[in-house]
Amino acid sequence: MKDLNILAIESSCDDTCAAILRNDFVLSSVVFSQNDHKNFGGIVPEIASSAHLEKIRQVVTDAIFQSKLEENDINLIVYTKEPGLLGSLLVGKCFAESYSFAKDIPCIGVNHIKGHIFSPFLNKNFFGKFPHLCLSVSGGHTQLILVESFQKFEIIGESLDDAVGEAFDKIGKMLGLEYPAGPLIEKFSEKGFDKFIFSNTIVNDLNYSFSGIKTAFMNFLKKNIDTNKNFIEENLSDICFSIQKKLVHMLIEKLKKSIEIYKDIKAISVVGGVACNSFLKNSIYDIAKKKNLEFYFPEKKFSTDNAAMIGLVGYFEFLNIN
Ligand code: KG4
Ligand code: ZN
Repeated sequence: MKDLNILAIESSCDDTCAAILRNDFVLSSVVFSQNDHKNFGGIVPEIASSAHLEKIRQVVTDAIFQSKLEENDINLIVYTKEPGLLGSLLVGKCFAESYSFAKDIPCIGVNHIKGHIFSPFLNKNFFGKFPHLCLSVSGGHTQLILVESFQKFEIIGESLDDAVGEAFDKIGKMLGLEYPAGPLIEKFSEKGFDKFIFSNTIVNDLNYSFSGIKTAFMNFLKKNIDTNKNFIEENLSDICFSIQKKLVHMLIEKLKKSIEIYKDIKAISVVGGVACNSFLKNSIYDIAKKKNLEFYFPEKKFSTDNAAMIGLVGYFEFLNIN
């Protein structure tokens, strides 16, 4: 069969991304992270869609250039169809469909979550064992997913309110850290110790809740700052270590519970932006080792939103359709 040269587009949130794949191998991956939201403390959907519109052509041109292919070599276009911010998704969809029409090549829309699920397998020549449990953790989602096959996956638990990445970011903001605060909390925690205890949030089943811990953290800071106005500066590393440990513990607790329920799983994986966190990865590695399960995680550049993972899903879906 002829090689597929794939142009993939991801625009579901605040990153404008394009990638070129030859079959399931990544030739280039370009991510433009929008800075426009920094002053708003969160993503503004209207700003995100107009920033995508402004950048998408350049990002695609850069991805093609870096892949060393010519525009006319591309014979499949894939874009993120759902879920995401409606206006942002529409920019990717309109670009992809117009490109497909102009170049007379097929175009398919794929699911963003599926992209994250299969992100550990980019450039690996291997697609993991089934069934496996995937913990998907980012600024937009916290989900436990049972992956039964390439076509079939089921969300068995998810956050009922904030995503865990959002909790990292909002807690970081209270500490005066820049957005995204997750990587900074990890960095400061490297020199810290487990000094502060935060109470448990009880949530039934395999679901999560991160809004309670945010409020508990706010009260904790207020109480301590009332008695020592330099509390944050004097304890930043220990605060970061303790809250990172708490958030990771909350994720792990439900992962362990799901391993007990789904006894036939052969592997576990962690994907999404928060999967960059080494404390989380090491904790999951320990569980996998103890339970004799394989453990998959993406390269850092494929953990956060990117178009390469979208291209990979598109490649397999296209092969199945055709
Ligand atoms: O997947 P992603 O790029 O975007 C969304 O789909 O939201 O993930 C970004 C999120 C942010 O909340 C960021 O703080 C978090 O991932 N993050 C981390 C780390 N690196 C990124 N959280 C904890 N530790 C990290 N090392
Ligand atoms: Zn994502």
